[in-house]
Amino acid sequence: MIYVAPSLLAADFSDLKGEISRIEAAGANYLHLDVMDGHFVPNISFGAGLISSIRRHTQIYFDVHLMISDPLRYADDFIRAGADIITFHYESVKDPMETLRAIKAKHIRCGIAISPQTPAEVLYPFVTEADMLLIMTVEPGFGGQSLIPECLDKATALRRRANSLGVKIDIEADGGINADNAGSVIASGVNILVAGSSIFKSKKPRTVIQTMRASEETHPFIG
Ligand code: DX5
Ligand code: ZN
Repeated sequence: MIYVAPSLLAADFSDLKGEISRIEAAGANYLHLDVMDGHFVPNISFGAGLISSIRRHTQIYFDVHLMISDPLRYADDFIRAGADIITFHYESVKDPMETLRAIKAKHIRCGIAISPQTPAEVLYPFVTEADMLLIMTVEPGFGGQSLIPECLDKATALRRRANSLGVKIDIEADGGINADNAGSVIASGVNILVAGSSIFKSKKPRTVIQTMRASEETHPFIG
């Protein structure tokens, strides 16, 4: 099954409650929450305070994507705020495996992300350890960029690796995904699609989400 995770970054921040009900009604599976610190990435978005405020208004699964330095230091804040899964960047820490284990020890699901220039191989040891692998298909930091198709080869390598080990892991792609390219993203082995602009900026988010999900039929993953 394909999951669609609209990224709140592209929402109208003057009406977050309304924006969240709009994408829930449109059939979103997850809400993707992009946390940026102006240090690991050259942009600042929002933090645990905002997440905790919106948590009161929705039951939707909170997929928290930390683009911050020292994610372990802030993990408790995001858990308290209501995250269902926390994903940190491989590039943001000295010892990614130790960080993953320390976050998972807090009884929260934990994913690990790689930026476009980081090779898939670094995530091989995480296929049996992480709850999710996140492949960035744009440079992290800003919504509204175009998908870099070469990044999808990494999803394929990781899906093959997981399949050969008999592991069912979530592979998420994030950045520049829309109804037109969702098929190629799914065909690469991805099962969770993050999409900000293409969903929130659309007048028909339900159609966009349905089209994305339906692309699985025409673009199955061929391992
Ligand atoms: C980029 C973020 C993405 C972004 C996706 O750093 O991680 O989640 O908001 O937005 P679109 O779909 O507009 O590229
Ligand atoms: Zn993201």
